[in-house]
Amino acid sequence: MRVLGIETSCDETGVAVFDGRRGLLADALFSQIDMHRAYGGVVPELASRDHVRRVLPLVDQVLATAGIGRDDLDAVAYTAGPGLIGALLVGAGVAQGLAFGLGIPALGVHHMEAHLLAPMLEPAPPAFPFLALLVSGGHSLLVDVTGLGRYEVLGESLDDAAGEAFDKAAKLLGLGYPGGPAIERLAASGNPARFRFPRPMTDRPGLDFSFSGLKTYTATTVRAHADEPAAAADIARAFSDAVVDTFVIKCRRALKQTGRRTLVVAGGVSANRMLRAALDALGRECDARVCYPAPQFCTDNGAMVAHAGYLRLAAGETSGAAYAVRPRWSLAELLPPVSAA
Ligand code: KG4
Ligand code: ZN
Repeated sequence: MRVLGIETSCDETGVAVFDGRRGLLADALFSQIDMHRAYGGVVPELASRDHVRRVLPLVDQVLATAGIGRDDLDAVAYTAGPGLIGALLVGAGVAQGLAFGLGIPALGVHHMEAHLLAPMLEPAPPAFPFLALLVSGGHSLLVDVTGLGRYEVLGESLDDAAGEAFDKAAKLLGLGYPGGPAIERLAASGNPARFRFPRPMTDRPGLDFSFSGLKTYTATTVRAHADEPAAAADIARAFSDAVVDTFVIKCRRALKQTGRRTLVVAGGVSANRMLRAALDALGRECDARVCYPAPQFCTDNGAMVAHAGYLRLAAGETSGAAYAVRPRWSLAELLPPVSAA
């Protein structure tokens, strides 16, 4: 089975083809980051319009790279949510139009499920059950995963998501958008002993996160050292250490609570090398395997959508036609694949 995947939930147009036997055949991405940078963040209407411009040429490009035609496709998977409504509608419209024209199914995929399963695209994929830390621009979730669509959310962010916190801290430091990679670069030269930021919600039981206090802490520290440009690297380091440490503490707790021996880490923030180094160390401490997507599949991409769609279709799911898009959609609402039979 060959599945075309289309991702347009935010500011990247991603298209890919996944083949059940041969794996990922082709993957292409157009990032709108340069366009949104001037505004310091994603402008939804500009995002939708640019997806309209990019998506069909990217479809042609991946089909050419894969060496197949549209008729060789068996299904089209698209991100149905969560995300920006206009941006989602572009992908959904194109996917459903293509599928209708070709007489094949179109399946709406949950964006966070696609992130969650992305490490399975790697050569030594993790096997169910596992614990998953999903850290993206819109969500921070700790999930106990026992199978496809069997997700128990153990903890989540009560306010800002991890990536959002990176983006806001970067703005306060006068760095560009997106903030995660900018903070990571600056933090590398920062002095870790200069400032110590709080590790939010780690002094009480539970697996939820909160990052809005860190933003306030960062703002106050930036203001107090406004006359010292060199302090920015130390602040970026303190912020980054606080976020990473918070995730390590919560993942340790969740591994102990669930007894899982595999930790899957995915979403845009999972590209962060400081986070990876700290979670790798946690894996050694807890005798757990830690799995990540390849760096290009941490942030939004079409490959994860084609892959998640393939897994559901291969498990017998025939249609996601009950909805077109769902801008707000909790991972906890997902169910295992349902076949029409
Ligand atoms: O998963 P993603 O591409 O989009 C959403 O589903 O939200 O995640 C984007 C987020 C942005 O907030 C970005 O700043 C963050 O991931 N990010 C990073 C890094 N690369 C991207 N955060 C920290 N370190 C990075 N290297
Ligand atoms: Zn994402």
